[in-house]
Amino acid sequence: MNKVLQLWRIATHPRELRMALSGLGVRLAGDDALGGLTDAETAALVRWAKEPVVDAFVEIGTLFGLTARTVAQLTGKRVVAVDNFCWNPFGLTSAQHEAFTRKILSGGGVELVRGDAEPFLASLSGRMDPSRALVFLDGSHAYADVKREIELCKAQCVGIVAGHDFGNPRFGVTRAVREVFGEPDEVVGMCWIKRAVR
Ligand SMILES: C[S@@+](CC[C@H](N)C(=O)[O-])C[C@H]1O[C@@H](n2cnc3c(N)ncnc32)[C@H](O)[C@@H]1O
Repeated sequence: MNKVLQLWRIATHPRELRMALSGLGVRLAGDDALGGLTDAETAALVRWAKEPVVDAFVEIGTLFGLTARTVAQLTGKRVVAVDNFCWNPFGLTSAQHEAFTRKILSGGGVELVRGDAEPFLASLSGRMDPSRALVFLDGSHAYADVKREIELCKAQCVGIVAGHDFGNPRFGVTRAVREVFGEPDEVVGMCWIKRAVR
C-alpha cells in the first residue's frame, strides 16, 4: 500500500488504521492514536462541544483534521481548525501535510486556518464571541507554549478551555494547566476541560 493510500485510510477509517499501520514500519509517536485522540477522548470532546453554551469549537493543532471533522459532523456547531503544519507522524512536508488535511476537510464544514496558535488566539475576538467558544489545545505540548496559550484564552475570556495530553509525563501540559487553573473540571483519557474561564 503506498503512502497516499495509507493516508486516505486515515481519512476514511481512522479506527482501523491504528491497527493497520502497526505493520507498516512507520515509527509512530508512542501511542495508539497516531498523535490524534482515542475513541473515548473523541466522544468526550463531542459531548463537551454539544454543551448549550458552546457556539464554536476551535481546535488548536488539527493534524489531519479528523477530530475537527468528527466534531463538526456530530454537533452541527461551527468548527475552526488551526495548524501551522510543523509536525505529522508520517514525515510529510509541511505543504503535503496541509494539502492532505485540506482534502480531508473539504466539504465538511470545517474552517481550516494555517497559522500559529498564539497569534490566532490573540485575535480570537475578531473571529467569534470567545465567551461562547470551546478552545481545544492540542498543538505545541511544551510547558511554556501551553501556558501562554491558556493565558491568551483567559485574556480573551474564552468560555471553555480544554486540551490533550493532561497527565502525559512526556509533555508540559499538566504543569501548565495546574499552574493556571488548578485541577481541571473533568479529565477523560488525557483530555482535560475547564469551564467558564474568566
Ligand atoms: C498531536 S497533533 C494534533 C492532533 C489532533 N488534535 C487530532 O485530534 O487529531 C499536533 C498538531 O499541532 C500542530 N502544531 C504544533 N505546534 C503548533 C503551533 N504552535 N501552532 C499551530 N499548530 C501547531 C502540528 O503541526 C500537529 O499537526
